[in-house]
Amino acid sequence: MPRPTPRAAVLAIDAYVPGKSGAPGAGKIFKLSANETPLGPSPAAIEAARNLAPEAALYPEGSSSALRAAIGARFSLDPARIICGAGSDNILELLAVAYVGPGDEGVYSQYGFLEYKIVILAAGGTPVVAPEENYTASVDALLAKVTPRTKIVFLANPNNPTGTYLPASEVSRLARALPPQVLLVLDAAYAEYVTAGDYEAGAALVDAHENVVMTRTFSKIFGLAGLRLGWGYGPAHVIDALNRIRSPFNVSSVASAAGVAALGDRAHLQAAVAHNAAWLPWLAGEISALGYEVLPSVGNFLSLRFADAETSAAADGFLAARGLVLRAIGAYGMPEFLRLTVGTEEANRLVVAALKDFSQGARA
Ligand SMILES: Cc1ncc(COP(=O)(O)O)c(C=O)c1O
Repeated sequence: MPRPTPRAAVLAIDAYVPGKSGAPGAGKIFKLSANETPLGPSPAAIEAARNLAPEAALYPEGSSSALRAAIGARFSLDPARIICGAGSDNILELLAVAYVGPGDEGVYSQYGFLEYKIVILAAGGTPVVAPEENYTASVDALLAKVTPRTKIVFLANPNNPTGTYLPASEVSRLARALPPQVLLVLDAAYAEYVTAGDYEAGAALVDAHENVVMTRTFSKIFGLAGLRLGWGYGPAHVIDALNRIRSPFNVSSVASAAGVAALGDRAHLQAAVAHNAAWLPWLAGEISALGYEVLPSVGNFLSLRFADAETSAAADGFLAARGLVLRAIGAYGMPEFLRLTVGTEEANRLVVAALKDFSQGARA
């Protein structure tokens, strides 16, 4: 029987597999597999979401104008050049659909966030991978992959799952060297966590170039991953293109209200930054002291290396049996690594203790 057939490009996609969220048989679960914040959402965001629930029968205001105004005020950006979406994934998807088609190429780096490959393929384009150096994106390698067919370059800064970043000077060099018809997407999902002095999320580059867009999210430090809320900031002509193709009500009223409230809660944000600034180096130090290589992360997670893929899988199982759910990143070509989100103090201490036991050959 004939049946409807998706485009060949769609069937070429390996669907994104999220990190595990549970561990059957373990007692208390610590989900450290999706780079969610251990501090949860701001209480003000929870209250705002609750207050909006009775209005759920009504469609949201379609352009997310209140949220765009709040983002604009908070980050000193023009709200007319902001677009909101159901997570920053939604913005990445819109960018690919708007700028990439069959015969076009989209470039990203070797260990870059997996979603780039998916959205390029889904748009009908060809993914092109630039090698990294020391698990860090290389501007020269990205530029070397640019051809007349290149329409878009995606750069996660800092990158997931490596946690590494490029300093502002390098990102600026990339923006200046790209041909003006190639769109550069700076995905700054983890920007708020970065404390390095030479880091910039990308807004200044957006203002300086007609071909640079920055994407951001409420899923990470703002703790609203479940509500699906992200945004992009770009030149007016890019935002115009995205607005033509986004679904008319792509951000729910509950998510918008929670986002506005989250932006207003500076204390909660500062607490999350401080928590990460204390525990990320602690985890890196303790895990390195056990003899594992830890990639130098500036996000709210880190990737640690085992001897080989089998040992990594064994460690994953060992930790999961104790309720410690990490992220296997074989899909990124890093099967000998596990990615660990910075958790609560309790979770962080348990992970280090479990890794110590694992390295000493203990059984879960
Ligand atoms: C680098 C990067 N970009 C974008 C996203 C997408 O996040 P969201 O769609 O929740 O905003 C993630 C989530 O893991 C990420 O790690």
